[in-house]
Amino acid sequence: MQNLASKMEERLPQELLSFLRLAGEVAQAQGQKLYLVGGVVRDLILGRPNLDFDLVVEGDAPRLARQLARASGEKVVVHHRFGTAKFHRGDLSIDLVTARSETYSRPGALPKVEPGEIGDDLFRRDFSINAMAIALSPASLGELVDPYRGRVDLEQRLIRILHQRSFIDDATRILRALRYEQRLGFQLEEATERLLREQKSMLDTISGDRIRHELELILKEEQPERILYRAEILGVLQELHPSLKGNGWLAEKFHQARRISPPDPALYLSLLLYRLTEEENERLLARLNIVGELGRNLRQVLRLKAELPSLADPALPRSGIYRLLKPYSPTAVTACSLASDSPIIRSHLELYLNDLRYVKSCLDGEHLMGMGVMAGPGLGRILEALLEAKLDEWVSTKEEEEAMVRQWLEEL
Ligand code: CTP
Repeated sequence: MQNLASKMEERLPQELLSFLRLAGEVAQAQGQKLYLVGGVVRDLILGRPNLDFDLVVEGDAPRLARQLARASGEKVVVHHRFGTAKFHRGDLSIDLVTARSETYSRPGALPKVEPGEIGDDLFRRDFSINAMAIALSPASLGELVDPYRGRVDLEQRLIRILHQRSFIDDATRILRALRYEQRLGFQLEEATERLLREQKSMLDTISGDRIRHELELILKEEQPERILYRAEILGVLQELHPSLKGNGWLAEKFHQARRISPPDPALYLSLLLYRLTEEENERLLARLNIVGELGRNLRQVLRLKAELPSLADPALPRSGIYRLLKPYSPTAVTACSLASDSPIIRSHLELYLNDLRYVKSCLDGEHLMGMGVMAGPGLGRILEALLEAKLDEWVSTKEEEEAMVRQWLEEL
């Protein structure tokens, strides 16, 4: 039995260690066994930072959570219906759940859940490297529970499923496998890769919301383009939509996107679907159940792409660029500026993003009324004309704007 107590001492903050020790003691006093599980165990062994602590108790999580909150003075939120509890300590979140076994009635369905032991709880997990636990009970503190040889797979840098039906039971694991593989610089173990290729169509059994969630997790990784590239090679991306591509073009655009602003999943998604037709895009949005603002944004990308040729005229006035781009979100304009091959179109899009969209006229409605303009649609038109004049640099100061308004009023 391997013991990770010294690794915990070395890699976890003292305060957190004391909390985990106390949690193990309280559990033991209640006759329950407590374990640290999942991603945090993997990352502890790898020496990677992880602020999400998952604890599993063989017994009753809410009962332990209440007693632990009393003993530690920490605040806890308990969800009785799900048998879970959450402690927040600054950036750290500590989740406590009851050990459970899961059975899948049909592929892709949410599993039937029953209380179980730590072995059952590890068996329901996705990959061997995520299916390890560390005992927190005082008598066995630090002991590694590793029934699927996760530690060896960590050393050999392999992503391995626990059984042949894993991807059938839960096809989100297909996307998760690629995410861990690229994040950690690991490889899919041979049989895992074969099954993944054979069973990739099981993604059809997963709801749009769950697929979208996995895609969002991919887009939050440091280099999502690597995962999408791998997904294309393995035929996984095409399962989401046959026309999606994760090739070199996309990688280059993602690189450029990161150079201009912090990574933005909505911008990445815009680039991912940039090469789809509007009909293909509609199918993808429906498949991923993308609605609301994000859906509007993504539709705008393709609508603007269709309008880009009108931005190719080098003599286009600044106000013309503004008028054309104003209806579009900054994300849609940014996506098109990254994706377009034409230097003129790109420079017009960048001019809008960096300058034109911030231009405001000095005079507002109240000013204009003070100058004798009647409230109503005419006032709106004067405001628009003022803004255009400002955009085209005919006026720059308040006085110049006032002079222009006076001249318009005289000409009426
Ligand atoms: N898990 C699983 N199958 C899934 C989702 C999660 O088996 N479809 C298990 C894994 O053991 C995982 C744990 O639940 O380690 C927690 O899930 P999650 O927070 O998604 O994973 P982490 O490993 O913490 O990953 P990350 O580092 O990406 O947060």
